[in-house]
Amino acid sequence: MPKHVAVIMDGNGRWAARRKRPRAIGHRAGARAVNLCIDWCLERGIGALTLFAFSSENWGRPEDEVGALMKLFMGALEREVEELDRREVRVRFIGERERFAPALRARMDAAEARTRRHGRLHLNVAASYGGRQDIAAAARALAEDVAAGRLRPEEIDEAAVGARVALADLPPPDLFIRTGGDLRISNFLLWQLAYTELWFTDTLWPELDAATLDRALADYAARERRFGLTSAQVAAPGTAAATDTDNPSP
Ligand code: IPE
Ligand code: IPE
Ligand code: MG
Repeated sequence: MPKHVAVIMDGNGRWAARRKRPRAIGHRAGARAVNLCIDWCLERGIGALTLFAFSSENWGRPEDEVGALMKLFMGALEREVEELDRREVRVRFIGERERFAPALRARMDAAEARTRRHGRLHLNVAASYGGRQDIAAAARALAEDVAAGRLRPEEIDEAAVGARVALADLPPPDLFIRTGGDLRISNFLLWQLAYTELWFTDTLWPELDAATLDRALADYAARERRFGLTSAQVAAPGTAAATDTDNPSP
């Protein structure tokens, strides 16, 4: 069972295009799938869910689409926070919050404050988020610590960087799911996905159902995560058998 699932919610525009409707209608339809995904995590006992809602690059979309998305975020925050609170979901936002309008930022802050004490599900919403920007911000934080004399350059290692990227307090995602059929990461959690199992489906985000998510889970369960080791080492860690099979002595 994965502890942390990360999802690129993609395909809203194509879902709408197939119905000859504006893209904004696709985004609205996608909101339903967000709730489905949260419920699915709660039912399966998955402790952390990170959803890619809006990338740093998505700011470059046509003004009316960005505007429609902002309205949708505002509405969703108003509507859903109470329900999330009731279901003991802790909501957090990662990404450049300063880029959002003050009213939206205020709702994000309020949603975080209201659900802060929960831990049944950590719901992380990546909004105005980019993986490169996340790593660059960590580099800046390291530089500031060095400049202030709190850190020596030789102390900068993977743990030091990892402590300064988004979601540092959670285990890295075990399973990555992307809907919409495109086989790429699109600047999502670049650092955090280093050893995540990747799973892709042609299903468009608004059409997501629990059966599709269960298929991802079944595929995940059948995979062997080796983290750079050999199959024998993973099967029997630390035993002589593992060593013998892989490095037969002369
Ligand atoms: C994902 O759906 C939602 C956002 C990026 C906000 P898209 O809008 O990218 O849908 P497609 O990929 O064009 O179908
Ligand atoms: C990734 O989808 C971002 C989100 C789902 C929020 P995009 O639709 O922006 O990704 P590309 O442009 O196809 O790579
Ligand atoms: Mg897309």
